[in-house]
Amino acid sequence: MKTAYLKYDSQRIVSHISPEIYGHFSEHLGRCIYGGIFVGKESQITNTDGIRNDVIQALKEIKIPVLRWPGGCFAEEYHWRDGIGKNRRITLNSHWGKVPDDNSFGTHEFFRLCELLGCKAYLAGNLGSGTVQELSEWLEYITGDVDTSNVLERRQNGREKPWKLDYLGIGNENWGEGGAMRPEYYSDLYRQYQAFARNYSNPDMIKVACGANADDYQWTETLMQRLNSQQTRALSLHYYTIPTGDWFHKGNAVNFSESEYYSTMQKACRIEELLTRHSQIMDNYDPDRKIKLFVDEWGCWYDVENGTNPEFLYQQNTMRDALVAAVHLNAFNQHSERVTMANLAQTMNVLQAVLLSDGEKLIKTPTWYVFRMFVPYHNAELVKTSLASSYIYHDNAEIPQISCSVSKKDDKIFITIANLSLSESCRMLIEPENNTIRSADGQIITAKIHSFNQFDQKESVKISEYDGFFVNHDKISAEIPPCSVISLSVNA
Ligand code: AHR
Repeated sequence: MKTAYLKYDSQRIVSHISPEIYGHFSEHLGRCIYGGIFVGKESQITNTDGIRNDVIQALKEIKIPVLRWPGGCFAEEYHWRDGIGKNRRITLNSHWGKVPDDNSFGTHEFFRLCELLGCKAYLAGNLGSGTVQELSEWLEYITGDVDTSNVLERRQNGREKPWKLDYLGIGNENWGEGGAMRPEYYSDLYRQYQAFARNYSNPDMIKVACGANADDYQWTETLMQRLNSQQTRALSLHYYTIPTGDWFHKGNAVNFSESEYYSTMQKACRIEELLTRHSQIMDNYDPDRKIKLFVDEWGCWYDVENGTNPEFLYQQNTMRDALVAAVHLNAFNQHSERVTMANLAQTMNVLQAVLLSDGEKLIKTPTWYVFRMFVPYHNAELVKTSLASSYIYHDNAEIPQISCSVSKKDDKIFITIANLSLSESCRMLIEPENNTIRSADGQIITAKIHSFNQFDQKESVKISEYDGFFVNHDKISAEIPPCSVISLSVNA
């Protein structure tokens, strides 16, 4: 068994871990909103104003901090007026499945959802097929408090007071489906749109410019040259883990070989390089880190489940997804000085979802359990760590065997460790510098790599108590089983 060494210094705080790093993303896509989160008031499934109660409960358990809506690509064809009032238009979701959208879930329903969840709202505005006026009036409708026609209409539609809108994205993937723009052109359009995107109840709303696709560093460079921190407070970044790296044959969500597993881990671990390199470019223009990096879409993307609508992106979620989630969340923590928001794609029934439903049945996926385990990181302080561990060699690539991060809150140290090896345990020696360890409690998520939760077997992958460690002379010695995610809450 190999040994890894983790040292942390709880006196050296690196950065604050924004809870929004644990954010989510819900699009009008497949059964994420309709038939997922939102079933309508008349549904047999217990709901509050059409929103499933069991979904609210499950998302509250992971303390969902922020929700991004209505897309994604869908945002670039969304016209908010279709989704307010009594007589809503039926529009075509031309992006995802060419299916009708009755717009029964619109602005009022989204803010009600955020209210029920107790989370912040993040809207993605339409820059690709909308207008400056349309976006500006949406903000007036949502945040205005003087009696203009838009505000009176909101009141007539049942909402007296303005809503609090914390984040506004201006466009989505404008380098691709959102208009196939060049970064120079997008930057100019962004400057124009943002000038009229006025929030009347929360002047501190954060405006987010559409950032790069994966390793498109030129996009980040150009935006940083052309935008300043008065105009934008964040750039987004989208990165999906595709096991094969081939969009046309991404790989199966459940049946995958050992080689495909390791190539998934290799792709997931790339997030570290992407965050480092985009941050370095941003540092050159913005050394004070006023402009943040929001990874507002991330997660595994596999071939859709057989027999489901290919454009609805429904996929199962195994122990492999739990490890991918842990790798990303640890990386976001490590970069929390620049990364202050990340949004898993997507909340329910789409891509790497935390929840899957079948009629009234609901399951929490392995990914949900990782989000549950990592809750103590919300609003904690990242502490300085050094890790010495070995690599797994696969297809000429080096994959770190261990992914981890360490934080401090209220004198408690919280540590998470994922062992990405499928076959080898790792002995881990954990040592604080300048501090003591009195005791620790452990939790673990582990299962055979292909395990997943099913509607009639809901807890094949879940959190259990972990006692594979001992505390001795202010050090922890732990045995981290292969294919596991563990957490330790340490009392100093
Ligand atoms: O999450 C699915 C899609 O992935 C989103 O609509 C888009 O932004 C991205 O390409």
